[in-house]
Amino acid sequence: MLNARVAVDREFRISPVRRRTFGSFVEHLGRCVYTGIHDPGHPTADADGFRGDVIELTRELGVSTVRYPGGNFVSGYRWEDGIGPVAERPRRLDLAWHSTEPNTVGVDEFMRWARKAGVEPMMAVNLGTRGIQEAVDLLEYCNVESGSHFSDLRRRYGAADPYGVRVWCLGNEMDGPWQVGHKTAREYGRLAAETARAMRLVDPSLELVACGSSSSAMPTFGAWEATVLEEACEQVDLISAHAYYWEEGGDTASFLASAVDLDHFIESVVAAADYVRAKKKAAKRVNISFDEWNVWYQHRTESEPPKDGWPVAPPLLEDRYTLTDAVVVGSLLISLLRHSDRVHAASLAQLVNVIAPIMTEPGGRIWRQTTFFPFADASRHARGDVLRVSLSSPRHDTARFGDVPVVDAVATRDEETGETALFAVNRSTGEPVLLEIDLRDAKQARLIAATTLTGDDPDLRNTAEHPSAVLPRGNPEVSVDGRTLQVKLPPLSWNVIRAAG
Ligand code: AHR
Repeated sequence: MLNARVAVDREFRISPVRRRTFGSFVEHLGRCVYTGIHDPGHPTADADGFRGDVIELTRELGVSTVRYPGGNFVSGYRWEDGIGPVAERPRRLDLAWHSTEPNTVGVDEFMRWARKAGVEPMMAVNLGTRGIQEAVDLLEYCNVESGSHFSDLRRRYGAADPYGVRVWCLGNEMDGPWQVGHKTAREYGRLAAETARAMRLVDPSLELVACGSSSSAMPTFGAWEATVLEEACEQVDLISAHAYYWEEGGDTASFLASAVDLDHFIESVVAAADYVRAKKKAAKRVNISFDEWNVWYQHRTESEPPKDGWPVAPPLLEDRYTLTDAVVVGSLLISLLRHSDRVHAASLAQLVNVIAPIMTEPGGRIWRQTTFFPFADASRHARGDVLRVSLSSPRHDTARFGDVPVVDAVATRDEETGETALFAVNRSTGEPVLLEIDLRDAKQARLIAATTLTGDDPDLRNTAEHPSAVLPRGNPEVSVDGRTLQVKLPPLSWNVIRAAG
């Protein structure tokens, strides 16, 4: 058994817990929309064709914001195709995913779904094949009360009240050569600045996100952020970041340490944003919208768009997540939370069927993937302030990231309820860790609950047939002594320890 120690103090505040950390993403990709959120033939479907079981699990997952409609899809999307009588909407070729977009679901349907699911919509505009005018038109359709062409059109199509969408993404992954309408940083930075300026003339209260890098491995990483922000920092509030980590060559130790890479990614984007701030002598800080992140096995053929034909909603990117993947997702959440001072929003990509925590069968069953649980735990129990913890952990060596701590953790503290929640992973695949938690400002700690997500088989997955193969369970191995708790973290585990005092 290994030993680790963590000190938690309510004075070590990083920032408030931001609900938008627990966002997700719905793209017109594969089966995320069609047979995902929308499946009119399903027994739980409502009058709009939305699956009630998906809405229920979205609520259980604790999703705050949902980014829509893409992703790569948005860079070729004509949003006007998705409004008005469904029977009259055009079918279009979606170049990003080599699919046919039937436009059965568009902006009005998505807004209705978002209301039913209790999530905040976060819209993306097309800055690939389109530009300022179409972005402003969509904003007018969504946010202007009445008395103009697009606002009156929205009312005619059934939505009397504006949708009041606050957060808007100015394009998607414009740094990627795969993106339809890919641009250089300078070209994109100018377009983002001018689009933002025009959008703010319609609605000054918007929170605008410029595209950052689609991965820290991009050759332009760092320079892209600096150039885009040199052009657009006065007009935007946030810069996006995207990261997908996956197991490579069976190197589990490195895979489990992916959050080390995420820490470095976030800190590098902060450095680039602050460099521009210094250079421009700007008062305003640009923060991060980490609006695509997850484990994604991109090398698998199911991640590739169809080569022949233009199918509607083909199964794409339907990764089946293991226990190990869930522990990695938990550790990525820890990294996002501890950077809450600068990461102001994040979106787990995606919500349903496409690299998703929720899986469905068309017209049939639904189940929670392993990755559902760390997200739901963190969303439910991270309350109040995020606290920096002082952690002493044994370390082990990894091929990709060198020497890394075996245990990683972050805490939150809710002053209203007096509850402290500690989120911790044990990255050792063989050794349990006895973790001592010192609640420094407590007189007498009281355990509220301790749960762990673990198992004997690192490759265990949940399936439609076995939806409960991997579940968080109560952790009985906790003791309390004064202000200190001792908890045994099983090997390869995601853990939540909640205490008061
Ligand atoms: O989430 C899947 C894809 O990953 C998105 O469409 C794109 O933005 C990213 O490359």
